[in-house]
Amino acid sequence: THTFSDAAEASKHIAERIASLIRERENQGKKTVLGLATGSSPLKVYDELIKLHQEEGLSFRNVITFNLDEYYPMSPDSIHSYVRFMKENLFDHIDILPHNTHIPKGDIPQEELYEYCKQYEEKIQEVGGIDIQLLGIGRSGHIGFNEPGSTAHSKTRLVTLDNVTRSDASSSFNGIENVPRRAITMGVGTILKAKQVCLMAWGYTKAHIVKAMIEGPVTDKVPASFLQQHEDCSAFLDTSGSQQL
Ligand code: GLP
Repeated sequence: THTFSDAAEASKHIAERIASLIRERENQGKKTVLGLATGSSPLKVYDELIKLHQEEGLSFRNVITFNLDEYYPMSPDSIHSYVRFMKENLFDHIDILPHNTHIPKGDIPQEELYEYCKQYEEKIQEVGGIDIQLLGIGRSGHIGFNEPGSTAHSKTRLVTLDNVTRSDASSSFNGIENVPRRAITMGVGTILKAKQVCLMAWGYTKAHIVKAMIEGPVTDKVPASFLQQHEDCSAFLDTSGSQQL
C-alpha cells in the first residue's frame, strides 16, 4: 500500500512507473502491454502520461492496450461509451496506433458474445499478457465490472451490474433508468494474470471498501479482495481513501 497526500501526486508516481517500463522494454526491442481502466480514478494518470508524451517525448508506438470493460449494449459512438472516454482522455492525445488499442465491443450481437469474449482473452495472451494493469475500485468492491459473486477464475464475459454501481453511474447517464443493466468485463482471473497491478482509490467514499479489500477476508463478496493473492499488486491511496486502514 502506498499512501500519498493527494491523487495528483500518486498519479504522477504511477505514470512514471508506466513510462519507465515502456522505455525499458523499448530498449530491449519489446512492446509494452497495458491494461487500462475507465472511471474518474485513472484520469490524472492519463493526464500525466499525455504530459510525458508532449513534454518528454514518451512514445506509445510500441504500446498495446486492453481496456477492462464496456457497458452492454453500448454503441462506440455514444457519449457514454468507454471507447469515447478513452479517446477523449488518452488516445487522441498520444501517438498510440489505433489497431493496438482494444476495448470490449459493446455493440457485438448477443449470439457472437461468447466467442468474442474468448477471443479477447486469447488476444491478450497472444501479445504476451498484460505487463501493468491499472484498476479503480467500485463501492460494491468490483474491479473492472466484476461484481460481488465473481470468482477468482472468472474470464472475460457478460455480467449484470450491481445496483450500487448503476446508482453511482446514474448522474452521468441522467438517471439510473438510463444506465445499462449489463456490461462486458475482463474476469478476476484475467486481471490476476497481469504481471503487475496498480489499484487506485481516492476519496473518503472509497475508504470503507479499501479496508475490506486490504484487511478483510479474501471473498467473492468483495472481488477486489482477490488481489491479496497477487504477488505484485500495489494499492495507491490518497489520505482520505486510506483513512480506515
Ligand atoms: C466503473 C468502472 C470500473 C471503475 C469503477 C470506479 O464502474 N467500470 O472499472 O473502477 O467504476 O469508478 P471511479 O474511478 O469513477 O470511482
